[in-house]
Amino acid sequence: MTDAIDAKFHPRVFSGVQPTGNLHLGNYLGAIKRFVEMQDVCDCVYCVVDLHAITQPVSVWGGPKQLASNIREVTAAFLAAGIDPVRHIVFNQSRVPEHAELAWVFNCIARLGWMERMTQFKEKAGKDRERASLGLFAYPSLMAADILLYKATAVPVGEDQKQHLELTRDIAQKFNNDFAESIRDHGFGDAFFPMTAPLIHGPATRVMSLRDGAKKMSKSDPSDLSRINLTDDRDTIAQKLRKAKTDPEPLPSEPAGLEGRPEAQNLVGIYAALAGRTTADVLAEYGGAQFSGFKSALTDLAVDKLGPMGAEMKRLVADTTHVDGVLAAGAERAAAIARPVMDGVKDVVGFLR
Ligand code: AMP
Ligand code: TRP
Repeated sequence: MTDAIDAKFHPRVFSGVQPTGNLHLGNYLGAIKRFVEMQDVCDCVYCVVDLHAITQPVSVWGGPKQLASNIREVTAAFLAAGIDPVRHIVFNQSRVPEHAELAWVFNCIARLGWMERMTQFKEKAGKDRERASLGLFAYPSLMAADILLYKATAVPVGEDQKQHLELTRDIAQKFNNDFAESIRDHGFGDAFFPMTAPLIHGPATRVMSLRDGAKKMSKSDPSDLSRINLTDDRDTIAQKLRKAKTDPEPLPSEPAGLEGRPEAQNLVGIYAALAGRTTADVLAEYGGAQFSGFKSALTDLAVDKLGPMGAEMKRLVADTTHVDGVLAAGAERAAAIARPVMDGVKDVVGFLR
């Protein structure tokens, strides 16, 4: 289910995952699985965004030891899912200082009003906004820097990142407008930064909590029963799916019948995404079935797809030499792309170097 994207128009893909622990099925279906699919189409840069992880209180990301181990865990998930760090680039963000450097320039381009509208900031900051970090407020500006530092035009993400990608376009556009003359004078033509397209497609762009069909599956949900973690074993997956909230009706035989049934929609979407099938196709097979039977089919499918990946993740997490080597080598290759772009930004803005 790869998007019909043309490599000619999308020379580079970029995406990132925060090392904040509890990698789950939503991260896999909404993001990591899509990263793997893009590898045959484009040059890809996949980043463990550790600078983003520290925007929340230390108690949320767990402190220095936890951060280091979470960085390795996300890297292990990338590799176990099938991302090839030789053909593509895998690294952690803090190793390439140009991310923070370009984010500063973008902090001076983006407007307070734009940031005020970000729903993720509102959700994460909660009621006590005064206590949120300045970094959390500027989070989308760092995200724009991540993408534009590589002049990436295609970004596979889950549905929750759509607003941030719209803001990335606004920042690119304003930079291109504010410095239009300098951009031309320095030989960069009409636009320094390209426009970025989000890649948000398929049946699992927003995987919901197994306990509440109105809430997103999330790393930070206090109930572990709400999510399937990528390292869960068969018994845990089976138990979580057995306990997953449903309604009393049997499954409908067409997608329209899922309307108003968020829990059913979620489980069918998960099945379709794991199997690489459409929702309609899955319902053509399971329409009329009771949830008990469907849940056990879903358990088999999930164990089949996630089991080998979880085992490989555990193996890789223990092999820190290998994982650290991948990140270090990836960072050098990332920097080789990022540095000249940042030099161009400096010339365009008028910094002497
Ligand atoms: P994060 O863990 O916030 O860094 O998210 C990493 C990637 O997973 C992003 O592309 C998110 O959009 C995606 N993602 C996170 N939660 C979900 C979810 N419940 N359903 C689908 N995609 C998700
Ligand atoms: N904000 C993204 C998330 O929470 C992670 C991220 C950081 C990202 N930089 C990015 C995603 C650049 C895509 C591109 O999921």
